[in-house]
Amino acid sequence: MAGLFSCNQKKTAPREAQKTIKPGAERWLDTDGQHINAHGGGIYIEDDTYYWFGEHKIAGEEGNRAMVGVQVYSSKNLTEWTNEGVALAVHGDTKSMLQKGSTIERPKVIYNDKTGKYVMWFHHELKGKGYEAALAGVATADKVTGPYTYLTSRRLHPGVYPKNFTLEQQQLAATALKDTSLKRPELGRVGAYLVRDYEGGQMSRDMTLFKDADGTAYHITASEENQTLHVSELTDDFTKVTDNYVRILPGKRNEAPAVFKKDSTYYLISSGLTGWKPNPARSAKAPTIFGPWEELGNPVRGSEEDLKKTFRSQSTYVIPVLGKQNAFIFMGDRWAPKNPIDGTYVWLPIKFEEENPTLRWLPEWDLSEFD
Ligand code: GAL
Repeated sequence: MAGLFSCNQKKTAPREAQKTIKPGAERWLDTDGQHINAHGGGIYIEDDTYYWFGEHKIAGEEGNRAMVGVQVYSSKNLTEWTNEGVALAVHGDTKSMLQKGSTIERPKVIYNDKTGKYVMWFHHELKGKGYEAALAGVATADKVTGPYTYLTSRRLHPGVYPKNFTLEQQQLAATALKDTSLKRPELGRVGAYLVRDYEGGQMSRDMTLFKDADGTAYHITASEENQTLHVSELTDDFTKVTDNYVRILPGKRNEAPAVFKKDSTYYLISSGLTGWKPNPARSAKAPTIFGPWEELGNPVRGSEEDLKKTFRSQSTYVIPVLGKQNAFIFMGDRWAPKNPIDGTYVWLPIKFEEENPTLRWLPEWDLSEFD
């Protein structure tokens, strides 16, 4: 994966890696001098090391398909990143759901204390099927950097309704589903897609994981045709969802969810639904991960253009900074759909104003921002 350098040269090559964070810079160089290839990523922290897992992209039209898999980098300071290689590799076997050319997006990793395994979840779409499968993929590993062994990809919660979807709501939703005059936002708001997908399982597209202080972990995903987010508690081994799940912000059309916790409050940063094109970010907070979630509006502070496009980025994760109290970094993607490998990264410090998260543009910064 080292690109131009052979192994021997690699050791003596001048270190060109970043010393500061330059949001949106054309190239984010790793310690080999290569542009970091870990899009739609997430960070797993162990001891004093950050591990950045993300989508490996290639050049050209097919660039958003998984030709390689999930890539992982490590760093102790959030600026100098070492390429640790492919954590989860696509399969050569064309019978595998994980075959080369399927779509792997937004991989996230957490550690399971009971099994001693690292557990990766990701959004998975089947080769040649666009975004219709809407599956949640799972893989596990004994070592943080992998290799991860693919377990399966599935729709979630077949035959189970969310805890906060009452019998009355189920009946209304079933009626709405038959009403051909209703459009997607209305069908979404009332939960008609939950009824439609009840037997086969609920859709899961943009997603993230959140492991709470008590060791319980949650899967947060854009479901119901991206109209509503679902928050699901994971099983003890983190490889499945339990029946304990809720829909949050129904009909609000959120995706790209990033969840973090400050003191005892849960925060969500997300985006609207415009594919690879940027749109205004949203934020919300809640006293428990299951809600009630209170919308806080656009966290971006700046020009009209900044607010409209979130600094030309879309959220993917929020990084808690090691060794600093209540210091969090917004991690976003500046997608390059025509040549996906050129996609770059927008990371900004989150500043709290009256307990609400805000983002302001900085062309170049380092962790002293939090001092
Ligand atoms: C975005 C989503 C990305 C990717 C893209 C495909 O809205 O956040 O992860 O799925 O759509 O168009």
